[in-house]
Amino acid sequence: MANPPASLSGQDVGSFAYLTIKDRIPQILTKAIDTLHRHKSEFFEKHGKEGTEAEKKAISLLSKLRNELQTDKPIIPLVEKFVDTDIWNRYLEYHQSLLNESDEKPRWFYSPWLFVECYMYRRIHEAIIQSPPIDDFDVFKESKDQSFFESQESIIALCTYLQQLVRTIEDLDESQLKNEFFKLLQISLWGNKCDLSLSGGESHSQKTNVINSLEDLKPFILVNDMEHLWSLLSNCKKREKTSIRVDIVLDNSGFELVTDLILADFLVSSELATEIHFYGKTIPWFVSDTTIHDFNWLIEQVKHSNHEWTSKCGADWENYIKMGRWVYHDHIFWTLPHEYCAMSQVAPDLYAELQKAHLILFKGDLNYRKLTGDRKWEFSVPFHEALNGFHPAPLCSVRTLKAEIQVGLQPGQGEQLTASEPSWLTTGKYGIFQYDGPL
Ligand code: F6P
Ligand code: MG
Repeated sequence: MANPPASLSGQDVGSFAYLTIKDRIPQILTKAIDTLHRHKSEFFEKHGKEGTEAEKKAISLLSKLRNELQTDKPIIPLVEKFVDTDIWNRYLEYHQSLLNESDEKPRWFYSPWLFVECYMYRRIHEAIIQSPPIDDFDVFKESKDQSFFESQESIIALCTYLQQLVRTIEDLDESQLKNEFFKLLQISLWGNKCDLSLSGGESHSQKTNVINSLEDLKPFILVNDMEHLWSLLSNCKKREKTSIRVDIVLDNSGFELVTDLILADFLVSSELATEIHFYGKTIPWFVSDTTIHDFNWLIEQVKHSNHEWTSKCGADWENYIKMGRWVYHDHIFWTLPHEYCAMSQVAPDLYAELQKAHLILFKGDLNYRKLTGDRKWEFSVPFHEALNGFHPAPLCSVRTLKAEIQVGLQPGQGEQLTASEPSWLTTGKYGIFQYDGPL
């Protein structure tokens, strides 16, 4: 294949990448610093004077980071030993080597946006692990939990819907089952609107019942490959495969995670899948992304809900995990800056794991950026081409658009949208189900 296009970057003044680095990222850092401040007494109660010192240290490291970013300083190597430190520093050296002729150093506004944005979250983690005894503190935990609590009504509505559906699932004919599958897929898609990094870490929750809005939202699905997903899974089921495995690469905790678990529950209850494998992040990431703590915490909350159907969902989910029908994995690769086409080299074990799936769902915007390498592709370039050799198994991106990148559109479609609605790529208003695999 010809060389892929250049990466999105903060060099393009006025672009979403530029505005993110200039405004949103410093805002997220400021919020993280405030959060540490607010937990001061908690750290003191837990760890005494050492806790107070650690809080001061973490804050000073984060302030330094914010200053480096705002003054466009060179990106510096990571210093604290952690499982992925060497990989990060090698990646940085590689970017350095690309610039060697001009004797430049990789910098915040000049390096690929995907790299610097991931690096920022990794540096937040470094500041925390350099500050024992508060080195397991998640600066985003509070906002993730808050968004979950604020979405209570919608969560209850979804859990009730699912429980009623599951009760009658055996009576549904083929077309009714397909209809329900499409509904729950769309709920999971729109659940992706609730990411907290777009709003600079401010609360973003789901207050209305999304089930009632699905018809109105349909015109905003720009690529809709749901039919392919249905054919794939219903054919597996018809062939009475003993194992049908769907992997879900998770994105945000809170409301979005509930929508993903509801979908996963439906898949096993309808026997469209026999096992679901989830992938989360090993460190706090892009504000709202799911870690194992968020995953367990959320299931526990749902289980202890006062609402009967909601708590039944939580109990069922816990049971799926116990029985091994639901499996949670984490892997350091998901919090590296690499595009997914590098996975088979950088994380061959993870690639081999994904190859075992019949279908992989990639939730969210950041996953889409990594699938397509976060590059300046033309809107009409086929998705398969933008994946640049990443084809572990049939896959589908389920994403609301929050970055200036979109491929696989009809000729002229993207240009038309740009003309009528200049911000269509970045507000989360539009969504896609974009499939790659055998048809
Ligand atoms: O800030 C970068 C970004 O990737 C945006 O494009 C998007 O708003 C957000 O972070 C992450 O979105 P998601 O949670 O859907 O991956
Ligand atoms: Mg996210």
